[in-house]
Amino acid sequence: MGTILVTGALGQIGSDLVPFLAEEYGAENIVASDVKDSTSLFPGIAYRKVDVTSREAISRVISNEKVSGIFHLAGILSASGEKNPELAYRVNLDGTFNVLSEAKKAGVQKVFIPSTIGVFGSSTPKKNTPVETVIRPSTMYGITKIASELLGEYFSKHLGLDVRGVRLPGIISYKTEPVAGTTDYSVEMFTHAIDGKPYACYLKRDTQLPMMYIDDALGAMLKLYESDPANLTRRTDYQLSAYSLTPGILADSIMKHIPDFEVTYSPDFRQKIAEMWPESIDCSLSAADWGFNPSYGIEETVEKMIRNLRMARDGKIAK
Ligand code: SER
Repeated sequence: MGTILVTGALGQIGSDLVPFLAEEYGAENIVASDVKDSTSLFPGIAYRKVDVTSREAISRVISNEKVSGIFHLAGILSASGEKNPELAYRVNLDGTFNVLSEAKKAGVQKVFIPSTIGVFGSSTPKKNTPVETVIRPSTMYGITKIASELLGEYFSKHLGLDVRGVRLPGIISYKTEPVAGTTDYSVEMFTHAIDGKPYACYLKRDTQLPMMYIDDALGAMLKLYESDPANLTRRTDYQLSAYSLTPGILADSIMKHIPDFEVTYSPDFRQKIAEMWPESIDCSLSAADWGFNPSYGIEETVEKMIRNLRMARDGKIAK
């Protein structure tokens, strides 16, 4: 086996996926990469600086590290993408094309690319949204991610590269403090609650979006990555979600543990983005084709987040 390269390793998902893959495949078989020069986040795991907009950098890391599989996580999320659409275009679309092309050229066996509920637009049906439906995103994030899904499918069907991927919902995790997306209010709400601070939420109290806890997302990604290709009726657009959440439901649930937590609502530009996305998505194909079966509900997520954040603040677990 060659190594597994993770691009965008320092982001919200990467910072959890890298140690998860190291546990699964052995630390010596994982290479973490991101645009930063170095990191202390992954002790015992190789880290390389790779800018995915440079095709040469990708080609170099694939051949130097004998890469046989790639988790291509590097991306500019919805809120950051609206602030810098050109950067989002270059990272999300050129970056994905570079990774797919160099992977194909070097004979990489498998490429995994997460997509997002952000591929949907305001004309998409909002409830139990199926995989195939009206898809007309109007954020740069959504436009580049639906194009990336289709590129992955193209490389898979026409060029023989094994590309797989999922449309992720909002991910709730504790290791990084994400600020680039629209669903990140959830993590911010937890960190404010733990630190005893009031939280001004940038979405309205009743804005409903599909979400899941990070451990379920990691487990699902690995399951799809390892699945027998004969069982896959889709390639890059399997949908994942464990529940639909609103800021109000999350606040109430956190208050069961931290009763004096205060939340106010002052929607900003992210409210418009959230309103374009589905309230719930249909994950039945993921369940049927490769056994997607999340185990964290809202209550379990809240308990785990509060416990992990408290332990991280006390220095008892890695932050
Ligand atoms: N978490 C992403 C965002 O909010 C959605 O996939 O941009």
